[in-house]
Amino acid sequence: MAFQPQQLGVVLAQAVEHAFGEYGMNGCARVFDDPRASGPIAEQMRGVAELISDVSICTHSYLHVPGAFATGTQVDTPSDFVPVPADVGAIKGALAATLLNRLLGLETVSYGSENQGHPFVNLVPHEGKGRKVRKSREGMRGHTDGVSFPFPGTRDEVVQRMASAPDWVCLVCLRNPRDVPTRVVFVAPLLQQLAPELVEALREPQFVIQAQGTFVKGMTDILGSTHIVDGGALLRGAEDFSFRFSHSNVDVASDASPQAKAALDAVEEFCANNSQSVALKPGDLLWVNNRQAVHGRGEIGDATGGQERWLLRTYGIRPGIVKPDQRYPERLFQLYP
Ligand SMILES: [Fe+2]
Repeated sequence: MAFQPQQLGVVLAQAVEHAFGEYGMNGCARVFDDPRASGPIAEQMRGVAELISDVSICTHSYLHVPGAFATGTQVDTPSDFVPVPADVGAIKGALAATLLNRLLGLETVSYGSENQGHPFVNLVPHEGKGRKVRKSREGMRGHTDGVSFPFPGTRDEVVQRMASAPDWVCLVCLRNPRDVPTRVVFVAPLLQQLAPELVEALREPQFVIQAQGTFVKGMTDILGSTHIVDGGALLRGAEDFSFRFSHSNVDVASDASPQAKAALDAVEEFCANNSQSVALKPGDLLWVNNRQAVHGRGEIGDATGGQERWLLRTYGIRPGIVKPDQRYPERLFQLYP
């Protein structure tokens, strides 16, 4: 059977409603404390999941699943990353997200250093002033999440316990009244059209990579300082490559080759001109490959709360990427730091 995202949405929405009937709202809300709580629900949906024979995570740089849960959101849009309110729509969306990760063979994870390790956070326009508030309202040109974290199969030189960046960024749409687009740029075509010496420059450890803003406070608390890779590569591997990039947090190192700067410029130009836009509707899920795609979004604007834009975000990671010492033993879904 050809893969149909709409059909996947129907299957997920049925499973979510079934779970609400069986476990109640409070039972389903346990995914906020530990995403692994959806295990028994996923067991029950195995039969329906087989209807979808070729959900191949490897062939998608992003996966847009419309109508994966009935929203029915009853509270105002929050105005900070956490907490996620115990709202019926938010719970259904989070549950649908953990179920989709399970269908795709992914583990739902968070990082202890980002938003206190909560597995789900609100992506919303924040109230107040300052850089964090500005960042929550303006457009985002493009980045991979957890940009300073090591590539799969490698260790950070300084913080050995540091886990890998997530494989997938998982977005759950609760509200998007002005159709603000999420933007995705596929990296494979960029690497195909880039001059070979510029691709090689991306593989060399000649970039300075600063931690994503949302990790800075937690990293400072846990590690004693924020995390900076001083001399890291942006690209690793060939066929199944991993790429990391951020307009705001990546620059060339002081001893970098001229090709490094040219490569970075070429990446920025490609991102500006080659994005695909997805305007999420309430009830939609959007999974973006965090190894082979860069994501961003349009401008959100200054209004907060009320019925304003509200996404939830979590992460998915493939089995085997995280080593045992890169988790918090008391909360296994939380990765270090
Ligand atoms: Fe992001």
